Amino acid sequence: MRLARREAAARPGRNGMSPIAPAKRLHVITWGCQMNVYDSARMADVLAPLGYAPVAAPDDADMVILNTCHIRDKAAEKVFSELGRLRVLQEKRRLAGGRMILAVAGCVAQAEGQEILARAPFVDIVLGPQTYHRLPELVARASRAAGAVIDTDFPAEDKFDHLPDQSAPQGLTAFLTIQEGCDKFCSFCVVPYTRGAEQSRPAGAILAEARRLVAQGAREITLLGQNVNAWHGAGSGGQPSSLGRLIRALADIAGLARIRYTTSHPRDMDGELIAAHRDVPSLMPFLHLPVQSGSDRILAAMNRRHSIADYLRSVDALRVARPDIALSSDFIVGHPGETEADFEATLALVRRVGFAQAYSFKYSPRPGTPAASAPQPVAEADKDRRLQTLQALLRQQQAAFNAGCVGLTVPVLFTGPGRHPGQLGGRSPWMQGVYVAAPAALIGTETLVRIAVAHPNSLSATLIKERACA
Ligand code: 5AD
Ligand code: SF4
Repeated sequence: MRLARREAAARPGRNGMSPIAPAKRLHVITWGCQMNVYDSARMADVLAPLGYAPVAAPDDADMVILNTCHIRDKAAEKVFSELGRLRVLQEKRRLAGGRMILAVAGCVAQAEGQEILARAPFVDIVLGPQTYHRLPELVARASRAAGAVIDTDFPAEDKFDHLPDQSAPQGLTAFLTIQEGCDKFCSFCVVPYTRGAEQSRPAGAILAEARRLVAQGAREITLLGQNVNAWHGAGSGGQPSSLGRLIRALADIAGLARIRYTTSHPRDMDGELIAAHRDVPSLMPFLHLPVQSGSDRILAAMNRRHSIADYLRSVDALRVARPDIALSSDFIVGHPGETEADFEATLALVRRVGFAQAYSFKYSPRPGTPAASAPQPVAEADKDRRLQTLQALLRQQQAAFNAGCVGLTVPVLFTGPGRHPGQLGGRSPWMQGVYVAAPAALIGTETLVRIAVAHPNSLSATLIKERACA
């Protein structure tokens, strides 16, 4: 997820509407998390009625959007170097009598709006994650104005109420944002500042969007949120609802084979959600539950608001509820104040839990966050060494988890062609990529395969029978 994605976020003439204006070319570059991938697609949806159709390269684009991520270092530098390249294309366009509108969106835009305009005055639009629904207005203003327009408000209106209902089909596996923002204020994290306060979408709107996605061909939906399991909305009768209940309602949608959710906070792993893992077969047995550190002292310094004992209680309860559940996590090494003993506690936690996969990062100070000015910074060399040690252990656990799958019979949701001719690719319930010699007719089905070989990051398998699971 750390590489920039260049995408044609959707196809021309989509939404079942023909564009009112002649087609204009839109190129979107996406950095960061799945929420940004989702947001990029929604920005393309918002611009479709203005005649913008996504293209895969920026060269002749009428508009280029950089959807940025600010979570770890050098994010802003990457944006400025990309802007430098785009400026050349923009200038070429201008000399040919045309115009390329450059927009910077996402969390870098939110955090560094004025700084972007000061360093890159050729940027036309700067907009934060809460104002995508205002894009048409901003584009119209930028088209008229000589200077740049900036919108990094946290508006009172709900952006989801102002985004079009119709959206481009996302394919067999779709994302659906149900919650945004964060009130947790972990010491190291910019999200509460860039994405704003925690907000849950109403259950009715989520269920309607899910039904639409399934009608458009989605077989798997991943519910997204910075704190997805903090989702709380009014249920259909107006009573308070939780993510566990929402998942039960989603599971009733005919044709929806798989449900996932990410990213969760350990504090919000409540009994209803754990029970949903026990009772809802379409809720996949894979959970990304970031713990960040295995030391209670560092968890407190990080303001994570839970202890290691709390985390282990949730893990144990999840494993009782759904014995085949696999876990993933995020870790930060070298948070200010982290000693060797704290780091050893992280290694001990990893050994105790056993992760199917995980992401790990060196702590990187984010301006304006409490940890950035905390005492006792950890030396870079110590961070490097700790990261290598942790990653070696996590790699070993991932390899062991993959090797443990060999010989198992597993349902795979085939999503497209594999790496080699005659192969299909798909995902196991535990998010592993699986490659199988199989006919293209099985794309879109969940089919039983036997895992034959475990590779470091994927699995090879053979078809058990050439037909989909019931
Ligand atoms: N430094 C390093 N890693 C960070 N993350 C968030 N902020 C920082 C930071 N300042 C990591 C956390 C989070 C993941 C998305 O990124 O592990 O869970
Ligand atoms: Fe950032 Fe912590 Fe909120 Fe996650 S819970 S988005 S790490 S502040």
